[in-house]
Amino acid sequence: MSKPVCLILGAGAGIGGNVAKRFAREGYHACLARRSDRAGLDRLVAEIEAEGGSASGYMVNAVDEGSIEQLVTDIEADVGPITVAVFNLGAQIGDRGLASTSLKAFEMGWRMATLSLFRLAQVLFPYMEARGSGVLLVTSATSAMRGNAGQHSHAAAIGGRRMLCQSLNAQFASKGIHVAHIVVDGAVDAPDTLGKLLGPERFQALRETKGLEHDGLILPAEVANTYFHLAHQHRSAWTFELDLRAFSDLAWWNHAGSPTLK
Ligand SMILES: NC(=O)c1ccc[n+]([C@@H]2O[C@H](COP(=O)([O-])OP(=O)(O)OC[C@H]3O[C@@H](n4cnc5c(N)ncnc54)[C@H](OP(=O)(O)O)[C@@H]3O)[C@@H](O)[C@H]2O)c1
Repeated sequence: MSKPVCLILGAGAGIGGNVAKRFAREGYHACLARRSDRAGLDRLVAEIEAEGGSASGYMVNAVDEGSIEQLVTDIEADVGPITVAVFNLGAQIGDRGLASTSLKAFEMGWRMATLSLFRLAQVLFPYMEARGSGVLLVTSATSAMRGNAGQHSHAAAIGGRRMLCQSLNAQFASKGIHVAHIVVDGAVDAPDTLGKLLGPERFQALRETKGLEHDGLILPAEVANTYFHLAHQHRSAWTFELDLRAFSDLAWWNHAGSPTLK
């Protein structure tokens, strides 16, 4: 029997790659798609295969017209029905005030985080609806829940995405498609995203002071365990929204001024 297929759109060495590995370990064929790092893509596929799993890699810039549509159509035709799709594209550009957030950056944030998800759902959901089943897991961030100074582009794009997830869920849950919105409420030990945003020195310093044995940076392999669980919930008890953070971080609804209790 052919393997179920898990598509990960935005598969770097952090959450995306670890979700691919977790699903491949459980018997899925993982389809990993990312934008610019061919060597990193090949490395992830090779790591999955070395563990006895199966995977294929795709170089795709999701914001290019027709790219997501072609990817999904090709996988459905050549690999197999996509059982689980993980939308893992972020749009974080770091803290920028209003004047230094260009129109171009704002629009690109929306194209990455919001429009790309809309396009994925438009091409994928008809397949899933015809099958009466499917899972879409959407990685999200604190900015989906709370705007902040410096987050104009990111919060608008990710907040809009959360509402899109709610709308998709409203139309498609009863048709057997499980949509889940996962609020990653803290920094992830992710070299291809946070690592590049901070640069190697600051990222390594953060890992040493907060991450590693301190467990204060969210470990992507642990996030992947949650994704696997979400994708296999019984339909009588589906989660739509779930949040994840390190034990030592305040939740998004708290704030740095919260009193420290004795
Ligand atoms: N990292 C954090 O601290 C953090 C915190 C909160 C929430 N999140 C959320 O977590 C998700 C990302 O997970 P992660 O940080 O662990 O990263 P990751 O899975 O290691 O990597 C994500 C990958 O997405 C790819 N990508 C970016 N733009 C793309 C595009 N236009 N088309 C195709 N692929 C594209 C990049 O590929 P290339 O490297 O090949 O360009 C990148 O490696 C995002 O939804 C983000 O909002 C992350």
